[in-house]
Amino acid sequence: MKIDGQTALVTGANRGLGRHIAEQLRDRGAKVYAGVRNPQSVDLEGVTPIALDITDPASVATAADATGDVSILINNAGSSTGASLLTGDLADIHLELDTHFFGTLSVIRAFAPQLGAHDSSAVLNILSVLSWISFPQSGAYCAAKSAGWSLTNALRQELAPRGTRVSALHVGYMDTDMVRHVDAPKSDPAGIARIALDGIETGSYEIVADETAKAVMAGLSGGVAALYPQLP
Ligand SMILES: NC(=O)c1ccc[n+]([C@@H]2O[C@H](COP(=O)([O-])OP(=O)(O)OC[C@H]3O[C@@H](n4cnc5c(N)ncnc54)[C@H](OP(=O)(O)O)[C@@H]3O)[C@@H](O)[C@H]2O)c1
Repeated sequence: MKIDGQTALVTGANRGLGRHIAEQLRDRGAKVYAGVRNPQSVDLEGVTPIALDITDPASVATAADATGDVSILINNAGSSTGASLLTGDLADIHLELDTHFFGTLSVIRAFAPQLGAHDSSAVLNILSVLSWISFPQSGAYCAAKSAGWSLTNALRQELAPRGTRVSALHVGYMDTDMVRHVDAPKSDPAGIARIALDGIETGSYEIVADETAKAVMAGLSGGVAALYPQLP
């Protein structure tokens, strides 16, 4: 798919990775909607802000009605509560699932008709290396990202006959607000945005965007012993 001339909607496009994706979609010639909780927080020239809280079905429906011509949907909006599944606040665990799983799902369901109205269209779900490996200190986020991967695999089969290609992006740490507190090597989100858009243009189903994600994907075939060597 050529991005030039398409109409794209990016959720969570006011900051972090989503802002870079929206900016680069614009620079590659797309008309871009920034789907954000606070439209006033969008500072990208030439990008149209649109109110969208992905956890609010009424907001999702209003955003879908307000567009009508979207051919590229980027599900980027994400939460990160750091909740443990064993000891975390249940409200935080719900928030992770409500955002990454139910939120992403409801946006895809709402936009599927307009995506399918084009001969070819694309959905990109921004997942994580944590779709494939879990850290107990953020178990709720990992479970939500795994659920996002499963959703991606199911919907890519359901939407393919309508010409909608559903992809996922997997990546380790990126230098954004979400992991500001983490002291570890982080990718530049602008570079990851470029890889994401190249992946859409080449039609990749799984965009494995950095060395961490590549290593963890390779480790999947090694089972529990390869992924969790600390286990007795
Ligand atoms: N940073 C990393 O290391 C990393 C690694 C792998 C994957 N990811 C994923 O990459 C994506 C982007 O994250 P980021 O790093 O750019 O994080 P970020 O800087 O914290 O940005 C998160 C974005 O999501 C938006 N958002 C959250 N809940 C929303 C909702 N209910 N409705 C609409 N928008 C909502 C936020 O909007 P507000 O401004 O209104 O809060 C913000 O724009 C996420 O899916 C994240 O899980 C991040």
